[in-house]
Amino acid sequence: MVYDTLQGEIILDYYRNPRNKGVLENADAHAHDSNPLCGDELAIFLKLGPDGRIAKATFDGKGCAISQAAAGMLTELLVGKTLEQAARLAKDDILKLLGIDLGPSRMKCALLSLKVAKLAAYGKLGKEMADDPMK
Ligand code: FES
Repeated sequence: MVYDTLQGEIILDYYRNPRNKGVLENADAHAHDSNPLCGDELAIFLKLGPDGRIAKATFDGKGCAISQAAAGMLTELLVGKTLEQAARLAKDDILKLLGIDLGPSRMKCALLSLKVAKLAAYGKLGKEMADDPMK
């Protein structure tokens, strides 16, 4: 079982004590989407600082331990990045943070928040997302 490891315990901790969870009022960018396999929904909110970099990132929604932990880890990763850097984040960036092997269905759980964050960043930049990490 994936949770019988140190990294598994970290994931469970992010699930039980969610980081940066909640709707961010006055967000400069936000997006939401759902996991096609289970219907769980997730939203990401981004607030920009005066330098144009992401000053605060939050997530909201429901999902399994992997999706909620990935979303919390991602919100921490997003802080300090420009919208262009956020838009360019790739699958491996989040898989590295999770640090466990995932099967195909769990992969969608892990990548949902990344997709939504990219949608938010691309949307604010006025561009279409050409590199959907869930495809
Ligand atoms: Fe729904 Fe993982 S089972 S997001």
